[in-house]
Amino acid sequence: MTTSMPQLRSVVLGVGAYLPEKTLTNDELAKLVDTSDEWIMQRTGIKERHIAAEGETTSMLGEKAARAALADAGLNADDIDLIIVGTSTPDWTFPSTATQIQAALGITHGVAFDLQAVCSGFVFAVATAEKFLRSGSHKRALVIGAETFSRIIDWTDRTTCVLFGDGAGAMVLEARPSQGGIEERGVLTTHLRSDGRHRAKLHVDGGPSATQTVGHLRMEGKEVFRFAVGHVTDVVKDAFAATGLMADDLDWFVPHQANRRIIDMSAQKLGIAPQKIIATVHLHGNTSAASVPLALAVAAADGRIKRGDLVMLEAVGGGFTWGSALIRW
Ligand code: ACO
Repeated sequence: MTTSMPQLRSVVLGVGAYLPEKTLTNDELAKLVDTSDEWIMQRTGIKERHIAAEGETTSMLGEKAARAALADAGLNADDIDLIIVGTSTPDWTFPSTATQIQAALGITHGVAFDLQAVCSGFVFAVATAEKFLRSGSHKRALVIGAETFSRIIDWTDRTTCVLFGDGAGAMVLEARPSQGGIEERGVLTTHLRSDGRHRAKLHVDGGPSATQTVGHLRMEGKEVFRFAVGHVTDVVKDAFAATGLMADDLDWFVPHQANRRIIDMSAQKLGIAPQKIIATVHLHGNTSAASVPLALAVAAADGRIKRGDLVMLEAVGGGFTWGSALIRW
C-alpha cells in the first residue's frame, strides 16, 4: 500500500437505498406465527421489516436504490458502464436482475451482471467491481444489493420468517488515479472467502436444476450464528494485515445486518468500539445482499460517515461465503 506507482483506485461517489412501503412489525408477525416482539427483539434486535408489494420485484427495488445512489453521486445513468447486482432472489431464473435494472435505467452501453453470494453478495460485488475498475477496463460502476426474501420465506416457520425482509441499496464507484496511500480515498483492500461444505446449514430447498421450483429458505440458526461470529473476523483481520491498519483506526464498522447479537459479538471480538458500529437491522431485518448498502446509505445520509472516514464493510452468508471491504470514504 506504500508504492508510489500511479494506479487506479475505486472511489465512492454516492450511496442510496430503497425499502418497500409496507412494513411488517413483530406484533403483526405474532398474529401469523407463535412468536412475540419480546422474543424477536431479545434474540435478534429486529423490530420490523419491509415487504415488497405484489408485483414489486427485486429489479424494481434495485432500480430505485440505483437512482438514489446516482443522485447522491450527482451522476446520470449514462455515466455508468458497469452494473453488478448481488442477489439471491432474482426476478427471473434468467435474464439477470442486473440487465433488467440496466434496461430500466435506460443504459445500453457497458455491461451488467448478477453475482450470487447470498448475504455476502454486496461485499462480493464491491470486491468484483473494484477489480474491474482498477484494471482500467471500466470507469464507473453501480454496485447494487437487492432482495425480495419475502418470496422465499416459509411464512409458517417461526424460526426463519421473523428474521428477513425486502430492500435494496446501491453504491457508485469511480476509477480515479491514486498513489496507493492508505490516506487516499477509495477501496483500500477486499478479502473474500467461501466454503461450500456448509450448504445444509443455510440453503433454499428449491432451484431450477434440482427441483424446478423456487423453494424456501431453510436454516440451522444456532450453527449459522456460531459460524458467523467465528469466521467473519478472519476477513476483517486480513484487511488489517494487508493495510497495516487496526481496529482503533476505523471510524465505522458496517457489518451485514442479520442479527444485533452477531453484530455486537463480532465487533467485540475484533476490539471495535461499540460507538463505531452502524446498525440498522432493527429497521429492516436481514435483507441479505441489501443489508450493508442499506446501512451505509442511512449512515451517509445522517452525516455519520463523512469523506475521509475509514469504513470497514463485512458480511457472511449462505455457502458459506464471507468477505470484507475496507474503504477510505
Ligand atoms: N418465536 C418464539 N420462539 C421461537 C422462535 C420465534 N420466532 N423461533 C424459535 N423459537 C423457539 C425455539 O423453538 C426454541 O424453543 P424450545 O427451546 O422449546 O425448543 C427456543 O425458541 C430457542 O430456539 P433457539 O433456536 O435455540 O434460539 P436461538 O437463541 O439460537 O436463536 C436465532 C435463534 C435467532 C435464529 C439464532 O440462532 C440466530 O440468530 N442465528 C443466526 C441466524 C441468522 O442470522 N441467519 C441469517 C442468515 S445468515 C446470515 O445472514 C449471517
